[in-house]
This record gives sequence, structure tokens and C-alpha cells, in this order.
Amino acid sequence: MRTVTQDTITQAFLDYCGPDTDPRLRFLLEKLVGHIHDFAMETDLTHDEWRKGIEILTKAGEISTPERNEFVLLSDVLGLSSLVDMVNSPPKGTPSSVLGPFHILGAPDLPFGGNLKGDNDGASVIVSGIVQDLDGSPIKNAELEIWQTADNGLYSNQDPEQPEYNLRAHMAAGDDGRYMFTTVRPAPYTVPDDGPVGELLHATGRHPWRPSHLHFIITAPGYRTLVTEVFPNDDPYLDEDAVFGVREQLVMVYEEQRGKRGIPSGLLDPDDVTDPYYTVDFDFVLIQE
Ligand code: BEZ
Ligand code: FE
Repeated sequence: MRTVTQDTITQAFLDYCGPDTDPRLRFLLEKLVGHIHDFAMETDLTHDEWRKGIEILTKAGEISTPERNEFVLLSDVLGLSSLVDMVNSPPKGTPSSVLGPFHILGAPDLPFGGNLKGDNDGASVIVSGIVQDLDGSPIKNAELEIWQTADNGLYSNQDPEQPEYNLRAHMAAGDDGRYMFTTVRPAPYTVPDDGPVGELLHATGRHPWRPSHLHFIITAPGYRTLVTEVFPNDDPYLDEDAVFGVREQLVMVYEEQRGKRGIPSGLLDPDDVTDPYYTVDFDFVLIQE
């Protein structure tokens, strides 16, 4: 009979895995279970603490719906989602950052220079730049998907008052890699904190705020798809994002402008731009596949 001890339990677990176990799965489990076993031993984990951990996971399951995944949120606030992004980001090019739960498919097309702001409250922001490769050459046939919060800090799929695709668009960049659109300043917002993840945040003295940002998914034939988000340089939460998504290279400079002179040519609705307004110039660098 085999006697399992603290020293042999991790190896015993591995020995139970059959010979046909996929090697990558075996490797992942070896590391995961090894770290979990070490965690229990290093912390002298009590039964009450173990039960509390299980309770958090149970509550996460209970509160999750097709629209709200509390496990992803847990991964986000623990920094795991961002670490997976970093581990999988190429060392060069624009860094990736969390997709978040509010992306939806089917955003309408917006032409170059188009107006995403529409009737939304808030200051206009004219965002433009180039989708380019590592050598600085423009990439042809790049496409951008853009989504963001309205002035009230809510995405359209969180707010019944907003049209379904409010502040969401798909844009084809020009052959010169250029993109441009007018939008409204995104607002900082809180991740949902009315569930077990919120409990964890409150218990550790953390707030649920994310700095405001624009989300982008950028695709181009022959290049790695870039899922990222970009942040205004003056946002108060830049240094304390609840989900660890900020990277220095993802900070956009918002230049405050007054008068029509700063409006770039090619904008389709220059008369709808508020005064003052902001201009933002941000280039995306994609990596070849
Ligand atoms: C977001 O950026 O939309 C987001 C990311 C992680 C958790 C919640 C929201
Ligand atoms: Fe977001």
C-alpha cells in the first residue's frame, strides 16, 4: 500500500495520469498542481481558509451568466489575464492588453474620418494614426474594430438607454495604413464589484476602477491580430488599473485644441466637433505572422 506524504503527493498525482495523457496537459497539470500543493504547505492553509476559497469559486459560478463571467473577472483582478497577455505578446510591436467582457460582434462600418460620437455627450476626440509594421512601413488592408464606454462609463451592452452598437465600429484603414475617426472621450468605469470578486477587492482595500480607454482589435493579412486598448495620458487611474491592463506604450497623448484650425482634413463631420476638443495621434505596430 502506498503511503502518501506531503513530500510525495505531487509525484503521486502525476503518477495517476495515464500514459496517453496529452504531454502539454500533463506539463500544465504538473506545474499547476505542484504550485497549489506548495501554496497549501507554504501557507499552512487551514480548513477554514480552504473552505473560504472554495466558497469564492462557488459564488463565482452562481453569479456567472452568458453575459457575466465572474471567473474571467477573478483572473483579471488577480493579474492572471494580463500576465497571459504579456507572456504571449511579441517583444516588439504594440503590446496587447485585455479584451474585456464587453466586445460584441457585428459593429457597423465607419468610413475613414467618420463620426463615432454621434449624439453622445462629452468632448470630441479626433483619433488618427497609422497601422504599420516593425520597419515603420504602412500595412495595407488593415482593419480596426473599436469599442468604448459612453460618457456615463457604460458600454452599450450594459446600458439599455444606448443603441445596441453605440460607440462601436469597424473601420478599414487606407492603403497608406491611415485611420481616423471622431469619438467622445471615454470615461473611467468600475469592474462589477457586487459579487465575490468585489468582496475580494473590498477585503484587500482595493477599488474597482479602470482608467478610461478605447479598445481596438486590429487585423491585417499576414500579421498577428492585435487585441489591445489605449489610455488617455491624463486619466487619474492610469497607475492603479483594477485589471493591470496599462502599459506605457499604450498611453495616448490627448492634446486639447480650441478653434477649427486643429481639425485634420479628411474628417467627415468637422462641424460636429465640440470646442474645445482633443486630438490624439497613435500608431499601431503589428508583427508578421
Ligand atoms: C474592459 O476593459 O472592458 C474590462 C476588462 C476587464 C474586466 C472588466 C472590463
Ligand atoms: Fe473596457
